[in-house]
Amino acid sequence: MGEHESRRRILVVDDAPDTLEVLQRNLTIEGYMVITAPGVEEACRILDTETFDLVITDYKMPKITGLDLVRHVRENFKDTGIMMITGYASINGAVEAVKSGAEDYLAKPFTEKELIGAVKRALEKLDARRTLDTGTEKKRLSAYGILGESSAMQRVFKAIEKAASTSATVLITGESGTGKELVARAIHYNSDRKSAPFVPVNCGGIPEGLLESELFGHVKGAFTGAVDSRAGFFQTADGGTIFLDEVSETSLAMQVKLLRVLQDKEVCMVGSSRSRKVDVRIVAATNKDLLGLVRKEVFREDLFFRLSVITIAIPSLRNRGNDIFLLMHHFLRKFADELDKPPLRFSDDALRILKNYYWPGNVRELENVIQRLVVMTDGNVIEAPDLPSLMRSSGIRAPSLNRALGEVEQEHIRNVLASVNGNKTKASQILGIDRKTLREKLKDDKSLNE
Ligand SMILES: Nc1ncnc2c1ncn2[C@@H]1O[C@H](COP(=O)(O)OP(=O)(O)OP(=O)(O)O)[C@@H](O)[C@H]1O
Ligand SMILES: [Mg+2]
Repeated sequence: MGEHESRRRILVVDDAPDTLEVLQRNLTIEGYMVITAPGVEEACRILDTETFDLVITDYKMPKITGLDLVRHVRENFKDTGIMMITGYASINGAVEAVKSGAEDYLAKPFTEKELIGAVKRALEKLDARRTLDTGTEKKRLSAYGILGESSAMQRVFKAIEKAASTSATVLITGESGTGKELVARAIHYNSDRKSAPFVPVNCGGIPEGLLESELFGHVKGAFTGAVDSRAGFFQTADGGTIFLDEVSETSLAMQVKLLRVLQDKEVCMVGSSRSRKVDVRIVAATNKDLLGLVRKEVFREDLFFRLSVITIAIPSLRNRGNDIFLLMHHFLRKFADELDKPPLRFSDDALRILKNYYWPGNVRELENVIQRLVVMTDGNVIEAPDLPSLMRSSGIRAPSLNRALGEVEQEHIRNVLASVNGNKTKASQILGIDRKTLREKLKDDKSLNE
């Protein structure tokens, strides 16, 4: 299965012991956690004390039929999917089952492959339905306005809580578009500094020569053009939080100055010899492997340790399980509202492709893709062919194990480039290589160099 989710739980109900055994064996091999029951009454008893993702039930059983179990589950366990197995003769039962709210039915006889396929489909439908459940979305969102139910994101929420209760320096790491700034803001606005400013500084976006005066301010006459004294970001953030985004992009000289602020809690304006005390909490972020940069001696080790008193590693979107459905529906609704369009939904095929895509640009990429789709779609269902072609070509294909490394690399580069609309600077950042290396690699692939 390859997913890092906890095992999905399935309850199998059938009066024939052989069938129960076969189903249990096949599903267990696939990684599911399987419990069996020989009849509907037993099944109901188990359902009262344990929760399941899916119930698979036979239709024809001596006392109570599978159809009654379908109704029972639908009425009492909204979060559990149900699938019915029917014989040739009972196709009416199958129709009835779907009408009563079953996710799907499976006609006998079926192969192992058909069984697994049907279970996967039923679970996917269930996941999509769970996300549509707007009543619970508030609860999910309330965690600092950051959506996420996966255990990976729950860990992030706990870390935010801990960080917000102190003034310790925080280092946030994560791929591009994972929500680093969102987390930084959540820390500030949940801390007792919340009424003082949150000041974001993009260290990669300010020219080297200007960064020092932007951060610390300068006095009149400090350099040509300094006609007045001006406060820097650190003074502006006094009492609050400064967010040093892309901190890996600072020069070694600048790093020494940052280290001094962290140690002495004072800043020195450019052109002045006096330093002033400031009370500023520092939160830094990077999408680079900072420790790797320390090893290459382009980032100071002492600063790295000063910054990473608390570290929060934000998982990539592909490592957040079903959070992707939650985010998809959130953005669908957001952009439909903005454009005054009726609510849109995805077809099952489209959902599958979106779920399997690699998402190199993470939540930001997802947000952009959905915005484009909402603008472009006329009907109210987004179908697989409406999706960007690169998702359809590279997303669904299971990576085969005998591909050459170069081929995989080229495909990844293509995906990343597409996710940032061909912006080579951004692509090289995501890929963790410099622009020159990216250009070299692009030379190897004619199709990338139109
Ligand atoms: N869990 C989430 N729930 C809702 N929105 C999210 C979530 N994560 C990210 N976003 C949205 O995705 C976008 C990117 O988030 P953000 O700017 O915080 O990412 P980042 O890691 O700082 O990205 P970059 O590395 O490109 O600077 C923002 O519009 C943000 O609101
Ligand atoms: Mg950012």
